[in-house]
Amino acid sequence: MRIICCKVNHLINPMGYEMRRTVFSWLVEEAIGKKQSAARIVVSLHADLHAPVTDTGFTDLNSIAADVPVQLMPRTRYYWQVTVRSDANEEASSDIQWFETGKMGEAWTAKWITCEKQARHPVFRKQIMPGKNVVKARLYISGLGVYEAAVNGKRVDNEYLTPYCNNYNAWIQYQTYDVTEQLQNGGELTVTLGHGWYSGRFGFFSKPGGPGDYGQEDRLIAEIHLSYADGTEQIIATDESWQVTRSNITDSSIYDGETRDDTLTDTEPEAVSIMEAPIPVARYSLPVTVHEQLKPIQLIRTPIDETVLDLGQNLTGIFDLRVHGVPAGGKVHIQMGEVMQEGCFYNENLRSALAEYWYVSDGTDRVIRPHFTFYGFRYVKIEGIPELTADDFTALALYSDLPETGCLVTGHAKLNRLIKNVEWGLKDNFLDVPTDCPQRDERMGWTGDAQAFSATACYLRDCYAFYRKFLHDMETEQREHDGMVTDVVPSFANAAYKGTACVWGDAVTIIPWNVYQYYGDISILEDCFDQMKAWVDYIRRVDGDHQGWKKVFHYGDWLALDHPNRKPDQCLGGTDVGYIAYVYYMRSAEIVAESAGLLGKAAEALEYRQLAQKLRDSIVHDYFAPSGLCCVDTQTGLLLALKHHLTPDPAVAAARLQQKLKDNDGYLQTGFVGTPFLCKELSDHGAADMAWNLMLNEDYPGWLYEVNLGGTTIWERWNSMNPDGSVSSTGMNSFNHYAYGSIAEWLYGDAAGLRMGTAGFRHAVIVPNPTPRIGFADLRYQSAAGVWQVKWDAPDKKHLHMSITVPFGCTAEVTLPFMDQAPIMLDAGAYEYDYAAVRPIGKVWTLDDRLIDMLIDKQAKAVLAQYAPESIDLPYSMQLNSISALIHDLNVVHLDAEQAATLASALATID
Ligand code: BGC
Repeated sequence: MRIICCKVNHLINPMGYEMRRTVFSWLVEEAIGKKQSAARIVVSLHADLHAPVTDTGFTDLNSIAADVPVQLMPRTRYYWQVTVRSDANEEASSDIQWFETGKMGEAWTAKWITCEKQARHPVFRKQIMPGKNVVKARLYISGLGVYEAAVNGKRVDNEYLTPYCNNYNAWIQYQTYDVTEQLQNGGELTVTLGHGWYSGRFGFFSKPGGPGDYGQEDRLIAEIHLSYADGTEQIIATDESWQVTRSNITDSSIYDGETRDDTLTDTEPEAVSIMEAPIPVARYSLPVTVHEQLKPIQLIRTPIDETVLDLGQNLTGIFDLRVHGVPAGGKVHIQMGEVMQEGCFYNENLRSALAEYWYVSDGTDRVIRPHFTFYGFRYVKIEGIPELTADDFTALALYSDLPETGCLVTGHAKLNRLIKNVEWGLKDNFLDVPTDCPQRDERMGWTGDAQAFSATACYLRDCYAFYRKFLHDMETEQREHDGMVTDVVPSFANAAYKGTACVWGDAVTIIPWNVYQYYGDISILEDCFDQMKAWVDYIRRVDGDHQGWKKVFHYGDWLALDHPNRKPDQCLGGTDVGYIAYVYYMRSAEIVAESAGLLGKAAEALEYRQLAQKLRDSIVHDYFAPSGLCCVDTQTGLLLALKHHLTPDPAVAAARLQQKLKDNDGYLQTGFVGTPFLCKELSDHGAADMAWNLMLNEDYPGWLYEVNLGGTTIWERWNSMNPDGSVSSTGMNSFNHYAYGSIAEWLYGDAAGLRMGTAGFRHAVIVPNPTPRIGFADLRYQSAAGVWQVKWDAPDKKHLHMSITVPFGCTAEVTLPFMDQAPIMLDAGAYEYDYAAVRPIGKVWTLDDRLIDMLIDKQAKAVLAQYAPESIDLPYSMQLNSISALIHDLNVVHLDAEQAATLASALATID
């Protein structure tokens, strides 16, 4: 038995994070026993754990989230260990873990310092000469806009864009670094500041060179705490004694990039001045670090003689570029783009974001790397390096450190590429804030996009701490806006982002709920309960007695394809926004009620349950016929009816949804609201074949259409690119928006078939939807409770092989597909099933099926085209008949008995 993955507050050995509670978690593997019988956590100030400050003794501790209070002191490292006993009398202890507190409530000796504003970015400096033998050195630091700290010219850490992106009017984070080694013999601490989100222009109303929303001055605060071998301590803090020189970076901007001039000479030290500013607080943000390093797959000389590098992957990050052979004063210009057009470099869809880098060489060959910006790019245009080779460039993917938890592979190459694209969509848009996109003049925490993708994200990576920070951002906005959740979080102190809308604002209930469901730690609900409630109360006030919530502007089913006045650039969908607004209002009220129930808040549980019920009654009254028909007769309208159990007769709504899809030749029309539930509601209501049709459809609109056109991420619009490879519009068109990547939730939870049964996946419900069309699905998911594995193989329509691993301490309810058996209950262990399906797996077409239904199935249509070509172009009224009727009764498809039999067997063998 081994204990792995030990975390505190969902972080491994965290240093200097916000620690209002201490929630421990761990996983057990290689056990003989099935579950934990008891566990013990010991916390001590000493690495050998003697004289514990906390010792739970062997007791019933929840391995997913053991909230064990520890009396914490500031700037202190605590060591801990968990020991687990199993029901087979095994006992194992984890390696010794630690966490270290930050300054907590302690006063700062340091003062904020600033300097004269100049184009050349400031470098604050201080000589640090320890008087004695240093046993421990810590740096507590924050800088605005963004900072990079170094000792003797070497970075103190591997983080980028600290202190990260938040509402700086409400809170400023500081980071804690262990600098014991760097300061052993003393040296110079230098801190360079860039503009970042604080003083750089930001938001799509800003213009290159324009001011930042939060402030203009450069600011630094830092404390170095030196602990000496003789037990004494010294603090070196920012004050009037620090000095400033100027870096060679002459401009920086999140959107526009960076400029650096190495011909500039060193400057004389300048004095700093002290300024008042809010005291920073311990970090919530995860480190943003370099992950993948990609080399170009190609150097392209374009028809107009540009030199462009192709990374083969659309990614978010920075780069290393080897500059060589450039004379002193020579300029290198680098520009970033996501797609090429007519074989040439293209960046118009970035709108006002310049996304470039300018370098003025001093004639020395060297590697350059941006410091205070990031780009969303696949293609890089480079001017000014005469003998550039592809090898000179390395792309560095930058994103928040989020441990990988999910891995899904299938037997279908294009589907696998799509899964990769969803994973890249996450990596590219999880840079401290869950953003809409990483390239154009937005890159903001659009809440609607974030909630749509949150369940998928929780399968792919451990996002608990990441979303915890975002929810804190949200709370600071709500505090400023009377409970309202701004469309964009943080809202960048800019009046333009201070609106709200249904679905978008409902992120404040949906995200904590998903985080709780996936990670099983109820503290997220405890921490967020007031803000969730504040949002519902805000809507309640706007709604008043006259359904006022329906009347404010809502984005609705954003980017759906069914608006009656559909124009190429159309953003709004065709589903009644008042209906969507009320369904989400009801859902938010339900989540508040359910959370209150879990948290033991009986009065609030009752109040919000009653509110939710009142809203449900009103929705059913206003939008449903007694027959069960939904009056909001769109794909998304019906999906919401099914998902939220609004229809008196789900079978009626499900049939209508299928009919709507057939009427649209089997193609989806859904936008941000409907898409996450589309395949799920179909497979849950007996139409898995139709879900697979949508999933595997390779034409527009569909997920694999993007893959066929070379997409390496998920696009903002179903038609971001036209079939001929041209960009459909420049107004609002990104090739890296993750919202439609929410299909991975269905792939994990329904196609592979692993769904959460109880919070944290302690209990799972396994109901796969196999199809020979993708051969197999092989899923590994490291849940909060343990590592699950579900694999099915469907080599043909008759056979199924399944293997399932239930982790230690977990149970599963498994429905073997195409078995017609009651679900099986499993406890920890590995299981294999090999069997013959009781029914053919997937749809088997016969001559008795309607032509119209066959025509929307690509494979059936291909068979018809080969064996009964006359059927393909028959008018709509004829398509409503079966093939058999078209041959025998109507005599419009001319096949003799032998030809009809050949057609029938060709149809039957489609897999
Ligand atoms: C963003 C979206 C966002 C939307 C709001 C866009 O500009 O990129 O993804 O949700 O505006 O409607």
